[in-house]
Amino acid sequence: MRRELPPVVHEALATLHDELLPVTDGELADYIPPLAKARPDRFGLAVCTPEGGFAAAGDHDEPLTIQSISKVFTMALVLGDRGLEGLLKHVGAEPSGESFNAVSLEEGTGRPDNPMINAGAIVTCSLVKADDSTERFERILGMMSGCAGRELEVDEKVFELEFATSDRNRALGHFMRSAGSLTAEVEPTLEVYLRQCAVLVTASDLAVMAATLAAGGVNPFTDERVMSTEAARHVMTLMATCGMYDASGEWMLRVGSPAKSGVAGGVMTASPAQFGLGLFSPPLDEKGNSVRGVEACHRLAERFSWHAFALPADRQLPAALEDDDAEGA
Ligand code: DON
Repeated sequence: MRRELPPVVHEALATLHDELLPVTDGELADYIPPLAKARPDRFGLAVCTPEGGFAAAGDHDEPLTIQSISKVFTMALVLGDRGLEGLLKHVGAEPSGESFNAVSLEEGTGRPDNPMINAGAIVTCSLVKADDSTERFERILGMMSGCAGRELEVDEKVFELEFATSDRNRALGHFMRSAGSLTAEVEPTLEVYLRQCAVLVTASDLAVMAATLAAGGVNPFTDERVMSTEAARHVMTLMATCGMYDASGEWMLRVGSPAKSGVAGGVMTASPAQFGLGLFSPPLDEKGNSVRGVEACHRLAERFSWHAFALPADRQLPAALEDDDAEGA
């Protein structure tokens, strides 16, 4: 059941919104025509806990296309269909260290590096079990809707325009067909992949979707189990190592929670058993991640000390003892 989080959380989000709204750094993604028309001053933040606690600020109910954040949910579906070994047979689990649309296939096997880059996501789509691409897409949409706790829809205009101009993804598909890493037909697979990217969500939805991962696969509002605990753990693992593309290392240093971004300006991050956070702001940095979204997470992670590898508060030595210790050493 949905309940309000304490005022300190609402205030933290509202303050961050006001502090970061004047930031004008970053560029809109312009290779997908409608994204170039997004309003750069849109900025929304929302947090949701596995128990259904919720707080939000700014444009948290403004729709955006989910783009690459969808890759997380298709990966979860394939883990359910084929298990980890079934996925790893076709897609690797290593950071590529390159941009999201790079052509990087593993030597010898031809596998794309991981399911979070475009090449890996295209192959992952093809692995969803279904009789045809209509059913394949419906299953992906069902997984995303289950995580959001409501029926999500596609922005058909964004889909059509990206499908018409997606030369690079099309080239990736043909290249992988020739390398043997994609066995399905390119066009229908690309259609499923770009349709999943064009699903409309809000920052609030992203928070609930991330909270579903943080809760081990159970939606905090509907109580529906949408994926296994193991699948939630596996996707969060790859979000931690590959979710922010070639900025994933620095993200883990500074924020320390598994995350995934998309070119429409969405960011989603999850902290197991603690919270899911959804952010939306269209201007992107040079790695393709939302400028305000990344900075907001830096500040929140520092303030609330949520780094996955930080010692729990009750295990930390008081600062005075640490100083004595250092002197004695
Ligand atoms: O395939 C593409 O290029 C887009 N539909 C999705 C890419 C994306 O969101 C990369 N994220 N930062």
